[in-house]
Formats: sequence, structure tokens, C-alpha cells
Amino acid sequence: MTNLESYLLKFSEEEWLEAIEQILGCIHEVDRNAVQIWFRFYPLELIRFIQNAEDREEAIRSLAIQGDFELNDQVDTSHTFLYGHRHWKTVKAAIVAESKVFTNQTPTLVEEIKQIGMLVAEKLKVERPLINGIVAVGLMTLNQVGLDAFAATDGDVEKPTGIMAKSPDQIIRARAEDDSQGIFGFLKTDNKKYSVAYADSKGSGKFNIINDEEIASASARNQSQKWKERDERCWEGVVPVECRSASCGTCWVGVLGGQEKLTEVARRERRQVKVFGYRQPADPQPFLRLACQARAFGNVTIVIPPWNGVFGKKIYGNVEELELEPATTSAAKLREAIAGATSNEG
Ligand code: FES
Repeated sequence: MTNLESYLLKFSEEEWLEAIEQILGCIHEVDRNAVQIWFRFYPLELIRFIQNAEDREEAIRSLAIQGDFELNDQVDTSHTFLYGHRHWKTVKAAIVAESKVFTNQTPTLVEEIKQIGMLVAEKLKVERPLINGIVAVGLMTLNQVGLDAFAATDGDVEKPTGIMAKSPDQIIRARAEDDSQGIFGFLKTDNKKYSVAYADSKGSGKFNIINDEEIASASARNQSQKWKERDERCWEGVVPVECRSASCGTCWVGVLGGQEKLTEVARRERRQVKVFGYRQPADPQPFLRLACQARAFGNVTIVIPPWNGVFGKKIYGNVEELELEPATTSAAKLREAIAGATSNEG
């Protein structure tokens, strides 16, 4: 193990999140939500729990995990929704180079991220705030997969397309805009129509949403693709769903833009997200939501994680009493796994 790897291993998930919080002002607005979302999509304590489990398959089953939760096979792709992703090859090379020369001084995580960010920004001649976020993601990826797996892939990324091909400021503006309601739009009340732009590990697109509709129902009305072939958790639309009642945790999404145009988190969503183990920030309209609960009153941009699970109690131990409703899910396997994950509640 290199010095850099042992240094990174010292930090808990909590300390990583604190470091991200501290460095947020040095991350360009275009990636501020994206970086925080990425760190919630790939929780360190969950990975450590599974890596240390005697029976890996049983651990995964007991946490009701569905989909691809590990970074090993997505070293170059887990962060396509970051603007900084386009600089990944250089960032990755810089981290590999750093792992060869890092001596065990004791920088803070923030200092280490900024140090690498500065070198990459100088080399690429781009502003540091556009690099710091993807450097943080790179260091955590190294921390979770180890140097061999980290360095094994070539780091090539596809050229950004669509909105992501624009400048950072244009992206921010485009995400903030609402669809036009036509010349008589001002007369419309609840029949306004908006769009949800999405990105996931397979690509990006958008679907329509009616004013005050939940993201999950709007996604289900879009049958433009065979979603299940794309991700077997997608029974209806591009957003994976099961229960539609905040009971299963399948539909969690990150909100890259327009979080203020989603209804506030109600008590049930707040509580269930804790049960699932997702780290939803405490603000009323946070950047991490359940798509079956959040209703939109404007355009929003979301990113869909490639997995879901129920691990709040086992990993963080922060759930005192569980109230999972009888699931109306069609997947018996998931229902069984959730029951297993909560069986010691009596
Ligand atoms: S679909 Fe089950 S929590 Fe949203």
C-alpha cells in the first residue's frame, strides 16, 4: 500500500463529508451539488462494511442492495454528471503521480485536495474551482478501490454532449430556466408543464412533468425507451421505482439544478431516507430526494444513482424505530430483503 493510500484510509466518511463542506466555496457552482451528491452516492462506511463482511453476498442481501454500488468497475464513469469529469484523465494521472511521491506529512484532506487541484489547474490552464471537485472524487475513488484498480483503466472520457458541452455558466443558467408556458402562460394555474432533465450511468435525456406532479409518476409516463433493458430496476420509466410510497428507497435521486422548485421534504420522506441510509441534508429542499415524494413546480435536473439499498440502521445505527409500511412492491425479492434488514426490530 502506498503512503497516500494509508493516509486516505485514516479518514471516516464523516470526515470526508466535513472536508467537502469546507472546500465547497472553492468548487465552482456548476459542480457544487454534483460533488456533494457523488459523495452520498458512494458512501465509504457502506463499502467498508461490505468489504469487511465474512459473507459478502449475504451482507449485500441483508442491506437490500440492488444495482451497482461499487466503484471498482466504474472508476472512469461514476462521475459523468460532474462538469469536472471532462478533466478526469489529467486528474487521475495527477493522483497516480501523487501516490508515488506522497510522503507521510500530515496535510488535512482539504489541503491535499487543493494541492492536487492546483497542479492540475496549472497544467490544464483552467480555474481551480473547476478542478477541486473532481480531485476530491478521484481521491475518494482511490481510497475505495486501491491504487491497482484505480490505475488499471485508461481514464479516457467521452466528449461532453448536450447541455454538458456548454460553459459552466451556461449550464447553470440552463438548469435554472423553466419551460415556456406559451403566450397565455400567465393565465395557466395548475396545468403548467415543465421538464425533468436526467442523467444516469447510461446517458441523459428529459421527460415532461405536470405542475405539482411527483418526479416518479412523470417518469413513468415517458415510455420512449425500454427502460428495463437499460436498468432492471426500472419497471416504469427511467427513474427506478417499486413502492411509490417512500417505503423501499429505490427511487432516490440527486438534484443538480432546481432543488428549490421541488416541494419541501415531508416528515415521512425525512424519516424513511434515514432508514434507507441515504444522507439527505437537513434543509427543507435538499439536493437528495425520493422521486416518489418530491413534486415539481418548475424545471429540475436530476441524476439517478445506479443502485439502492436499506442500510441506515446497520451502517450508521441512527434509526431508532422502523415503520416500514407493507410494501406494494412487485419485487418479492426486495420485500424479503427489506424484512431481513429490519427483522431485529421485533
Ligand atoms: S419508490 Fe419506493 S421509496 Fe420511492
